[in-house]
Parts: sequence; structure tokens; C-alpha cells
Amino acid sequence: MRIGIIGAGAMAQTLAQHALKAGHEVMLSNSRAPESLSAIVEAFKCYSGTAEQAAEYGDVVIIAVPLYAYNRLPKEQLKGKIVLDLLNYFPHRDGRVAPLHDSDITTSELLASYLTGSRVVKAFNSITVQDLASDARSIGASDRRAIPIASNDEEAKTTVAKLINEFGFDAANGGNLADSWRFERFRPAYCVAANKQTLEKILATTNRDTVVSDGHWIHNRYV
Ligand SMILES: NC(=O)c1ccc[n+]([C@@H]2O[C@H](COP(=O)([O-])OP(=O)(O)OC[C@H]3O[C@@H](n4cnc5c(N)ncnc54)[C@H](OP(=O)(O)O)[C@@H]3O)[C@@H](O)[C@H]2O)c1
Repeated sequence: MRIGIIGAGAMAQTLAQHALKAGHEVMLSNSRAPESLSAIVEAFKCYSGTAEQAAEYGDVVIIAVPLYAYNRLPKEQLKGKIVLDLLNYFPHRDGRVAPLHDSDITTSELLASYLTGSRVVKAFNSITVQDLASDARSIGASDRRAIPIASNDEEAKTTVAKLINEFGFDAANGGNLADSWRFERFRPAYCVAANKQTLEKILATTNRDTVVSDGHWIHNRYV
């Protein structure tokens, strides 16, 4: 599969490495010229391009930019594409976004409202980049972690779940995009190391009043 990645920072590079290891082809991009990625391209054996080119290239396109850049994404080139949404809302970085601040919508609904016609799947927002690099395990390993996933498009969700599996994790069902607040920041499922069964139980028992402190995952490991 061809995987386009918009962003070339910590998460983009770690996901690129998983994808390449699994036998996929990857194009990275950033907000500058593709030539600025020449060292990574050489080290990883992948491609670089503009954000528009990465969007056109990918069967799946990973959005690995800060949330504040969501409305600069190449929406025309992303139409019809499976878009893997990593975004989390950090007001100190992203500025105050009223509907997110007031929990009126999820970050994924915000992205989907901009990327009309894209098949948005939320995944990989709920694992730290360090854990993404170190916690991949073979299928059936007793300490294999799960990653929450949500989408309104079941077929796109199945495609991304398969990628998650190939990258060394199980996919835990987090429902649709409107449900995905259950694994946003300050929720018990966010970034915790847990297997599929435990993570799906945590997701199912989280309600709007269930709030945890930042960094809670450091003290709560279930695998
Ligand atoms: N780090 C984590 O542990 C973690 C975990 C889960 C989810 N996330 C989420 O994943 C996303 C990426 O995080 P990160 O830690 O990888 O960030 P990062 O290291 O700061 O990388 C951000 C990347 O986005 C690129 N970018 C910014 N604006 C862009 C635009 N308009 N078009 C194309 N590329 C653009 C930057 O390129 P330039 O340098 O050229 O501007 C940079 O390569 C964020 O939404 C973050 O909240 C992060």
C-alpha cells in the first residue's frame, strides 16, 4: 500500500518506520520544501514531496501535523482518501478553539468538517511517540497493546485496523467520530498501555464526567 504522510516530525517518522517495516511505500512531507527531508529519505528509503503530493500519493494519508494546521491541509487532494487522524488538542500550542474547549465536538469531527469527502479514521492519537516506537509486539504476545480507533466509515476503519495490526498493535473499537472523545486527552483510555479487552472496557465505562489528570498513563499500565 502507498502511505502518504503530512508531517515529518516525531510521530510521522515513527509511523513511517512501522509502515516501511511492514512492506508499504511511504512519502513524507512537511511545511517546507521536500528537499529539507533528504536526510530522512536517504536513511528510511522512502519518498518526500509537498503536502499536496503526499495526499495524492497515499491510499491512506496520515495527518501528523499539530492541530492548529488542520485548516491548511490540502483538502482537494484528500477527497475520497482514507485519512488517518492523529490530532490532539493542546490549547497552549493550538490556541483556543471554542467548540473543542467547550467539548461541543471532538477533534476528529472538527477535522472531518474541514475535510469534506475524506474518509476520516481517528487512530494513533492515544499512544505516546516513545511507546509507539518501543511497544510494538507480534500477534498473540501477552503484552501486546491496543490502540483505540474510531470512524464513521466502517470500510476505512477496517483498512486502518489492518495497518494497526501490521504495525504491532491491536485495534480497540472506539465507535464513530462523535464517540471519539472517549480517547481524547484527560480520558482514562488516553495513552494507557492496555490490551484490547481492557481498553474496550475502559472506553465503554467512560462517561462525560470521567476525567483523569494529564500523564495518568505513566502510573496506570495494564500490560
Ligand atoms: N508526540 C507524541 O507523542 C504524539 C502522540 C500522539 C499524537 N500526537 C499528535 O500527532 C501530531 C504530530 O505530532 P508530532 O509530535 O509528530 O509533532 P512534531 O514533531 O512537532 O511534527 C509536526 C510536523 O508537522 C509538520 N507541519 C506543520 N504544519 C504543516 C503543514 N501546514 N503542512 C505540512 N506539514 C506541516 C511540521 O513540518 P515543519 O517542521 O516543516 O513545519 C512537522 O514535520 C500532533 O497533532 C500531535 O498532537 C503526538
